[in-house]
Amino acid sequence: MVNQKATNVTRHEGDVSSADRRALLGQSGSTLWFTGLSGSGKSTIAVALESALMSQNKLSYRLDGDNVRLGINKNLGFSGADRAENIRRVGEIAKLFNEAGVITLASFISPYREDRNQVRRIHHEMGLAFVEIFVDCDLASAEKRDPKGLYKKARAGEIKNFTGIDDPYEAPDHPELHLVSDKMSLSDEVKIIIKYLEDHNLLS
Ligand code: ADX
Repeated sequence: MVNQKATNVTRHEGDVSSADRRALLGQSGSTLWFTGLSGSGKSTIAVALESALMSQNKLSYRLDGDNVRLGINKNLGFSGADRAENIRRVGEIAKLFNEAGVITLASFISPYREDRNQVRRIHHEMGLAFVEIFVDCDLASAEKRDPKGLYKKARAGEIKNFTGIDDPYEAPDHPELHLVSDKMSLSDEVKIIIKYLEDHNLLS
């Protein structure tokens, strides 16, 4: 939890409502939060979903661990405190995109339950849709895929505090969606998410 540092600051409301933006865009803003091990398929699913939504004329935007860490979060590493700050900032950014009416696809390992729950809380406080998607994959399968060769380096002791090897991953207790990425096909995963969005009136 980060304390409010600036004093004498108050929220300034505008005249355009979220209903106005919804009518303009023909969709509701939402945050789809993908959590899971490195190499579990979070980013792959988000990329495929972004294209599927675009083909339905729906606007989404991806926030991705590696990309964000090359930009706004370039001053953060992988200690517990830095991961918490990474997720806190991304949670706030996702909230802004969501408020703007965009279907926001956030793919972060986000290994700590409390950090994810805090992002959920700040969304719910504002009445914004938050969908936690657990991209569940055996460590052995993620390690076998090893798309960036990082598990190999972590096993060799060249990377410290690597999630799943010498750093924890806390699986969600009650995610809205649970995708078992080493058993399901990518197209089925995308269909499941789109059905969830339709069933919750987020695409209209
Ligand atoms: S998080 O834990 O703070 O949510 P995030 O999703 O932003 O992590 O970044 C994870 C990505 O950083 C991984 O996919 C991997 O490419 C890279 N990475 C580098 N070092 C580590 C590490 N020690 N643990 C996990 N991922 C790491």
